[in-house]
Amino acid sequence: MSSNDPAPVNPFIQGLPKAELHIHIEGSLEPELMCDIAERNGIALPFKSIDEARAAYEFDDLQSFLDIYYQGALVLQTERDFYDMTWAYIERAHADGVQHVEIFFDPQTHTDRGIPFERAFEGVRAALRDGKTRYGISHEIIVCFLRHLSAAAAHDTLMHALPYKNDIIAVGLDSSEQGHPPSKFEGVFDRARDAGFLTVAHAGEEGPPAYIHEALDLLAVKRIDHGVRCVEDEALVSRLVDERMPLTVCPLSNVKLRVFDTLADHNIKHMLERDLLVTINSDDPAYFGGYLGENFRACQEALDLTHAHLATLARNSFEASFLDPARKRELMDAVDAYARRHAD
Ligand code: ADE
Ligand code: ZN
Repeated sequence: MSSNDPAPVNPFIQGLPKAELHIHIEGSLEPELMCDIAERNGIALPFKSIDEARAAYEFDDLQSFLDIYYQGALVLQTERDFYDMTWAYIERAHADGVQHVEIFFDPQTHTDRGIPFERAFEGVRAALRDGKTRYGISHEIIVCFLRHLSAAAAHDTLMHALPYKNDIIAVGLDSSEQGHPPSKFEGVFDRARDAGFLTVAHAGEEGPPAYIHEALDLLAVKRIDHGVRCVEDEALVSRLVDERMPLTVCPLSNVKLRVFDTLADHNIKHMLERDLLVTINSDDPAYFGGYLGENFRACQEALDLTHAHLATLARNSFEASFLDPARKRELMDAVDAYARRHAD
């Protein structure tokens, strides 16, 4: 099996209805497709083979990952490139039994090197629409601001996003967390909410619990992306539980980026048992060794999760989604019915 083939499917996990809420579409670009796209665009890559590319995917922390991730995105030039990348992700999501996806898209990674927002966005959107037609996978798009860049640059990006308002559910905040607190983006998030966007933010991945407080208080987020460091602040945990604030947790990512030493050390089971609204997600699956199904499977094995745990995680993924209330209810009920049929 090549590393691009889907891992063997775990039947319970595959059949479990679920949503993915934390996937950077640029992080789904597999080395095979990266090489194909580079070749057709006449771009020289810094590796001689796909194996060499994969071997370069060794990270010590978030920044060392981001350096490689931004380099990988340089091959993306045409609308077709963005389409092909997104379509490949949809195929993997379908293979994993995913019913609904909410993807992050990082426009600045492309506009800063002269690729128009429209070209990149429309390629991504076309593939998501085809995913709905072909597989019934519903979708939302979240435009993220790169937090290592300025608030003014985020504002420019918001202006690019406005004409696509009907196709963008929310704005988010990603990239290098340490030293770039949510407070840096308070003004642009105010503007985004005024324009009718929901808001989310990466916080508490590498950054401290104080960044989670800021995301809640200053950015009025509807979800925290990652958030695993919340457990360092007991009052914050109580608040997140009371507000049923979703955390989009990315277990394999956290191990690759050394937030936890091993998956057995990951705190997702602990957070689940504390009644936090946690979900499982893949973050950047081409770089972190697995799509959504593999994240579920690896957690089940490392943390001894029962079918009931897995069903709660899947139900949470719909509760935490931006689906309309009727579809949310329908999918949560579908999880419950599935869980009853497959009780431990
Ligand atoms: N961009 C892509 N993956 C990311 C992550 N895990 N954290 C912050 N920004 C990202
Ligand atoms: Zn992320």
